[in-house]
Amino acid sequence: MYFYQPSQGHGLPHDPLNAIIGPRPIGWIASLDGSGQRNLAPYSFFNCFNYRPPIIGFASSGWKDSVRNINETGEFVWNLTTRDLAERMNETSASIPHGEDEFTRAGLTPAPSRIVSAPRVAESPVNFECRLSQCIQLTTAAGSPVETWLVLGEVVAVHIDESLLEEGIYQTARAQPVLRGGGPSAYFTITEAQRFDMRRPDDR
Ligand SMILES: Cc1cc2nc3c(=O)[nH]c(=O)nc-3n(C[C@H](O)[C@H](O)[C@H](O)COP(=O)(O)O)c2cc1C
Repeated sequence: MYFYQPSQGHGLPHDPLNAIIGPRPIGWIASLDGSGQRNLAPYSFFNCFNYRPPIIGFASSGWKDSVRNINETGEFVWNLTTRDLAERMNETSASIPHGEDEFTRAGLTPAPSRIVSAPRVAESPVNFECRLSQCIQLTTAAGSPVETWLVLGEVVAVHIDESLLEEGIYQTARAQPVLRGGGPSAYFTITEAQRFDMRRPDDR
């Protein structure tokens, strides 16, 4: 077995961590700053953490604009990245000056949300409107602060393109979600052919 202790480096051409914990869904996060300026950025340290109420979260390495905005306004919108939106999602990760609009830069349309002020990505077929529930600075096991913030939000409104519902059941593969692999450039998507079903022991 290849063995390493992360505190001493991995000794490999690329950190394998995010190739192992992968592919990861993408938190494509839209927010507004305190003056109403739009922001949009992808975060692959992202997931859903609770059903009722639904709570999703992403981790920002550094106090980036998304974290700053969400702490200013208490709101954000999560947008599903689909295969046809992959390149535009990637474009929204560019470091551009605060105040420049990633929607415009990536050729995306901001659509009004119903409950929160932050905009939705109109081209994305699923959007979650969220209210900030917690913003937690991570620490090491020894308790030293890490320059990473975990932003958690309660999903207060959900928009789903009805073409992704089959008799009311959401079709995960039909949406062609973009998932992040490891290294500098690897992504995946999924097809229905890769699906298999398995019930929990308690449900059988
Ligand atoms: C697919 C993808 C996933 C990313 N995931 C993260 C992440 O999990 N955490 C992070 O801090 N940055 C991540 N980034 C980089 C941010 O998107 C980038 O720093 C961006 O400029 C941040 O924007 P903001 O300052 O407007 O929030 C990712 C970039 C891409 C393309």
